[in-house]
Amino acid sequence: MANRDITCTVNGRKRTFSVDIRSSLSDMLRGQAGLDSIKHGCDVGECGACTVLIDGKPFNSCIYLALWAEGKDILTLEGLSDTKGTISDIQQAFIDEGAVQCGFCTPGFIMASVPIITKDEPSSREEIRKQIAGNLCRCTGYENIVNAIEKTQKKRIAEKKK
Ligand code: FES
Ligand code: FES
Repeated sequence: MANRDITCTVNGRKRTFSVDIRSSLSDMLRGQAGLDSIKHGCDVGECGACTVLIDGKPFNSCIYLALWAEGKDILTLEGLSDTKGTISDIQQAFIDEGAVQCGFCTPGFIMASVPIITKDEPSSREEIRKQIAGNLCRCTGYENIVNAIEKTQKKRIAEKKK
């Protein structure tokens, strides 16, 4: 099958990949860019384990063709750490709040939460639940995940007001 060159920005770096035109974005990012935070859960857009941000919005990368990534700005969990590899506040909050058990779903939940934690106004727990409704977790019962997202959003809003 034909390959095509795709150029996009991944975690702040411009990259070019040669991809099979049938490949998903998750295959390209995990297989070629080595970004292991992207999990193959269902591979049909049901579980959110493969969530990445594309131009700032969360998408299931397993059902997003790699071809569509041409010219896009893609952020994965790896891109949340700083240049020294220190994890971000939302990752730390997931640890602190016990929102991680097996961890398979965690990168997807964290990426889905980025649009919430970057808001200027606080979200209700119901709003947070709606935002992460496309992400499934079989271990945690969700409560601690919502706690971690709510805590990070509150902390960031307070920091902006300083
Ligand atoms: S692996 Fe993509 S939504 Fe489940
Ligand atoms: S922590 Fe195991 S699936 Fe969510």
